[in-house]
Amino acid sequence: MALARNSMLLARRKFAIGCGALASSAILDARFGLGEPAPAGTRLPIPMLIDAAKQGNAVHLKAMSGRHAFIEGKPTRTYGYSAPVLGPVMRVRRGVEVQVTVENALDAVTTVHWHGLLVPGYNDGGPQHPIKPGDTRRLVLKIDQPSATLWFHPHPHHDTARQTYMGLTGIIIVDDGSDARLDLPRTYGLDDLPIVLQDRSIDSDGSIGYDNNDLNALDIAYGDRGDTIIVNGAITPVAKVPSGLVRLRLLNAANAQNFDLRFKDQRTFHVIASDGGFLSAPVAVTELRISPAERFEILVDFADGKAVALETGPDDELGVFGRVAPDGSADYVAIMRFEPTPTMPLVKRVPNRLIEPTTANAASATRRRQFVLDSGLCANRQQAGLHTNMPALIGINGKAFDLARIDVETKLGTTEIWEITSIGMAHPFHVHGALFRVLSIEEQPPPAHLAGWKDTVLVEDKAKLLVAFNQPATRQHPFMYHCHILEHEDAGLMGQYICS
Ligand code: C2O
Ligand code: CU
Repeated sequence: MALARNSMLLARRKFAIGCGALASSAILDARFGLGEPAPAGTRLPIPMLIDAAKQGNAVHLKAMSGRHAFIEGKPTRTYGYSAPVLGPVMRVRRGVEVQVTVENALDAVTTVHWHGLLVPGYNDGGPQHPIKPGDTRRLVLKIDQPSATLWFHPHPHHDTARQTYMGLTGIIIVDDGSDARLDLPRTYGLDDLPIVLQDRSIDSDGSIGYDNNDLNALDIAYGDRGDTIIVNGAITPVAKVPSGLVRLRLLNAANAQNFDLRFKDQRTFHVIASDGGFLSAPVAVTELRISPAERFEILVDFADGKAVALETGPDDELGVFGRVAPDGSADYVAIMRFEPTPTMPLVKRVPNRLIEPTTANAASATRRRQFVLDSGLCANRQQAGLHTNMPALIGINGKAFDLARIDVETKLGTTEIWEITSIGMAHPFHVHGALFRVLSIEEQPPPAHLAGWKDTVLVEDKAKLLVAFNQPATRQHPFMYHCHILEHEDAGLMGQYICS
């Protein structure tokens, strides 16, 4: 491990020489330093469940600041939705209209974007819809899509990364009734658990901090990465689970980190759903990579009654740094533990079939477009927006994001082929207001767990997507597409499209 760390230090130095203008090695060392040892054994926090149907399909969310102790006894300032940190899990039924009020009790402009929810542009919560401090926004969300795990997070202009980092993240569960039909684990908090994965740099005084004016070039180039993994806001927590099948709704809500998940005993588990909903059949895997903003639902069998750790491997996507784990090693690190209890399992069997996704026919695509995502690594620096130290050329097709520019016009009810190319590093590409099928990834057909409807995909080099446009968006209320590394997004790796 020491050796691996040394070679990483060496790689860093090479990087510092190759991109001399970017950063000093002092910055590099501080950035990848080892954090406080984590106190193990806190119970996995389970976010409050808001079952919209039980409260007349009316939901109030308050974006607020609070205090949360990542390290016991050392509370620090954080943000949350109606909570000191993170937010509730909102369960909504298909076919209903949910009245949502969003109150901004922060001292900064915010927005709430419903990531993965298929709603018109005027309800999308992008940077075009700022909510000023003290203001409340009312909206009616019509829920019309299959069961899926979605999420919500801030999307204000140039401040998305910081606000999300401070804790603004919640989950939406869309429920169309198929859980019961398929007899899947569905008892919230018991055998159906939200798992929000993030990484943070936590100081010895317990604080997390994020200063838009103090980001160094590497924070922007690689996205902000911390050495401590938090799960639902806790460090290496323990979940007590029934000795049977448990469903985990995995969300990567990190600013930039990819997680390569596996269980320590390398047991097989089943992926049953991705961003847009169920796969056609469970996919058996022993490892699963999840990139920022992606969701997967998995079924894990704890019938053997053995406790096991969930681990993440080193992130492959650190360019010249090679494979680096969050703690700076090149090893897998435990991020949480599952302890089966002798309680009776509610569900024992993995179904053979799930839900056949609606067909997607590439031959009927009406257009083909190319998008080159460039994070401008090692490019010259320039000042832009709120960010100083920003490498130039962070943008799509050679253009940085401009709120006043519409980049793409699409037709409602059509599909298009979008060819994505990543430059600089792997970028998790996300499209608002639409779902897509991966036609090919790195010139190969997608693996089974990436073959369903999605809204985010990690593109290391090349991907070909079939995007289905079924929600309207006007010039005043356009949709966005962007890299979901939040520092890239804030720095301009983003575009806008309309649909009519
Ligand atoms: Cu999670 Cu622009 O989105
Ligand atoms: Cu990116």
